[in-house]
Amino acid sequence: MKKSSFGISSIGLQFPSLFMHVEQLASLRGADPDKYTKGLGCGEMALCSSDNDVVSLATGAARRALGRWDGNIEDIGLLAVGTESARDMSRPLSAWVASDLGLQGAVRSYEVKHACYGGTLALRQAFEWCASGSNQGKAALVIASDVALYAEGDPGEPTQGAGAVAMIVDGSKVAQIDPASYAYSQPVFDFWRPVGNAYPLVEGQLSLDSYNSAAVSCFRAFVGDEDPWQVLWGYEAACFHVPFPKMVKKAVTHLGESFGWAPSQIADFYAHKVEHTMEWNRSCGNAYTASLWISVARALAGLDEGRGVLAFSYGSGCGAELMCLKAGPRAAQAAWVQDIETDMASRSSVDANSYATLRANAAAL
Ligand code: HMG
Repeated sequence: MKKSSFGISSIGLQFPSLFMHVEQLASLRGADPDKYTKGLGCGEMALCSSDNDVVSLATGAARRALGRWDGNIEDIGLLAVGTESARDMSRPLSAWVASDLGLQGAVRSYEVKHACYGGTLALRQAFEWCASGSNQGKAALVIASDVALYAEGDPGEPTQGAGAVAMIVDGSKVAQIDPASYAYSQPVFDFWRPVGNAYPLVEGQLSLDSYNSAAVSCFRAFVGDEDPWQVLWGYEAACFHVPFPKMVKKAVTHLGESFGWAPSQIADFYAHKVEHTMEWNRSCGNAYTASLWISVARALAGLDEGRGVLAFSYGSGCGAELMCLKAGPRAAQAAWVQDIETDMASRSSVDANSYATLRANAAAL
């Protein structure tokens, strides 16, 4: 298969079967619910029942992406799973996913880890594998899947979430990916999970500062000597990694100030280009590697062919990258919206008491 442009040719998403309103968590923790809803911008946290986990989310999303793709599973030559919810220090999560999907043989299959940036790295590698010609006509299946849980009572608890996005990389029926991208990294301990720890350790303020600095570095490199407003306003949407929605608002403010934008310009940019992209994130919470791609899937849905979308990925540690995509002919139809509608309609709400039991059971495993 010879392609002049590569990108995403199919998308599938999967949310788990439970969720909880953050107000319920506030009642359990004795916190003011406004702190979670207004202070952090959170809405609902997606939670896994005993029937879901990082693998079932990944395979669920992959089946949906494969189901609406023009190719067959035999046409997949690379499976890359970005996650920070690894099951094993050696065996890649992709092996569990491949087993469930019946994917084996001439397939490069591996896991990618770099906190929330892992899914983006997997996508970039898959894209570059296709663009280099190493794919020999095969397509790549990229999955970002995570279950984000913090220790009970941790300040990060209201930002918890879960979800998966699968993307098939070959042609660009859903979105074309621009070969140029703008990466940034800096060794920092802002959020990390030592081997054997069930939950992450977080330097909260440092994580906010690192995210903001990375965003400014990537966007500045992208804009170069041009007028930032002219360049960025030309895009239909700017998607960001969403640890919690207020973080994205803070980053946009920081970015706008670094460009010398007036407060009204910053507010306009956020309102027109950013806020709507987080609609699904507000319903699932931080799904780590999947968060940015849930936002991108929302932004692409319904776009006319050729419209541009920016995607800023941040992973603690830290690594970041800004990518540019262009909607393909199937973006307007947006078949993947059905995935979110189905999962949101069928999931069950958990109250404060059931959540406490869920956590106690998880801790006892
Ligand atoms: P906190 O203790 O909730 O912080 O922790 P806070 O006391 O500063 O309150 C947060 C906001 O709520 C503040 O607003 C308060 O004023 C406001 P701000 O000043 O920031 O605009 N507030 C209220 N608002 C209304 N009514 C009230 C009220 N009370 C307070 N009554 C923190 C916040 C982010 C540190 C915590 O949630 C946390 O540790 N989260 C996890 C780390 C994180 O998400 N960092 C984000 C950047 S790093 C990243 O994105 C990577 C990550 O996804 C991991 C990965 O890469 O793998 C996390």
